[in-house]
Amino acid sequence: PVPLILDVDTGIDDSLALLFAAASADAELVGVTTAAGNVELEHVTRNTLAVLELAGRGEVEVAAGAAAPLCRPLTPTPETHGPEGIGRATLPAPAARQSDRCAAQLIVEQARARPGELTLVALGPLTNVATAVLWEPELPTLLKRLVIMGGTFREAGNTTPVTEWNMTVDPEAAACVLRRFGRDGAPLPLLMGLDVTQKAAILPHHLAELRERAGDVPLVRFVEDSLGFYFDFHERYDGFRGAHVHDPFVVGCVLDPALLSEHVALHVGVELGGEQTAGQTFADWKGNGGEPPNAEVPFGGEGERYIARLLDRLVELAAR
Ligand code: BDR
Ligand code: CA
Repeated sequence: PVPLILDVDTGIDDSLALLFAAASADAELVGVTTAAGNVELEHVTRNTLAVLELAGRGEVEVAAGAAAPLCRPLTPTPETHGPEGIGRATLPAPAARQSDRCAAQLIVEQARARPGELTLVALGPLTNVATAVLWEPELPTLLKRLVIMGGTFREAGNTTPVTEWNMTVDPEAAACVLRRFGRDGAPLPLLMGLDVTQKAAILPHHLAELRERAGDVPLVRFVEDSLGFYFDFHERYDGFRGAHVHDPFVVGCVLDPALLSEHVALHVGVELGGEQTAGQTFADWKGNGGEPPNAEVPFGGEGERYIARLLDRLVELAAR
C-alpha cells in the first residue's frame, strides 16, 4: 500500500477524499492533518474525525494545525460547503479525539521516521505544509513526494476570476511551499489544479447509482446530504447540477498515476498582491525567468474512470 498523510480542510470534497483513501486497500492512511480553510479549524477537525469514524477508521491519527492562514485573516466559505463544512449532512459526535501532536509535528515526525516513503497529499490551503517545511527544511527530501490540489493555469478561477480556492486562502503559504519544494534534486511536487480536477464531475445519476448499489445506509445518506449542498452551489454559480469533486480525484491519482497525462515540468509562482489576483498561480512557460522547474503539472485526466472508481470504493465501504 502507498503510505499517505492527507492534509485537509474538510470540506465536502475533502470528506470524499477521506472516504476514498479509507476505503482503498492500496492506501495506508498514516495520519490526517487539518487546517482552517473551507470552514473554521474546529469544524474541520470535528468533520475529519467524524468522517473517519463513518468509514470505520476512527483509529487514524488526526492532528489539528493552522487556525488561520500565515499572514491573512481566514475567509471561510459556508455558502459552498455549508455552515459546518459538510453541506446538509450531520454526523454523530466523534468518539476519537484529536492527537496531542499538532499538524506540522505529525508531518515532520512521520517523514523523519520513514524517510523517502511518505506521500503528503495537500487538499486545503498550504498553511500546515509551509509551517512544516519552515520547521524542517529537509522535508522535501524526507518525503517521497508532495502532491497538491491547487491552482489553475488555463481554466478560469473558482474563487476570483483568476484564482483557485486553496491558493487564494493562503497565498503566502503556497508561495513558500513552491519555493522550498522541488529544489536541489528533491522530487518535484505534483500540482493538480482546476485544469485537471475539473475534468470530472459527479452528477445526480451517480448518486442514484450509489443508492441503488449500496442501499439506504448512513454512508450513502452522508454522501447525498453533503453533495446535495454542493450540487445546489454549482447549479447557482456554474450552470449545471452536479459537482467537481477535486480532492478525491487527487487521492485517486496518487493511487493510480495512470489517471493523469500531459504532464509539464514548469517553474510555478504564486501572486501575492491584488484584490483579484492574490493566490493566482503563474507558470514560466517559456523559461525566460531562468529558474528550473519546481512543479510537475498535469493537464490531462481520466475524469470518468476516476468517478467510476470513487463510486466503487464508496459501495465497498458501505458494505463493510
Ligand atoms: C478546492 O477548494 C476547496 O473548496 C475544495 O475542498 C478543494 O480542495 C478546490 O478549489
Ligand atoms: Ca479541500
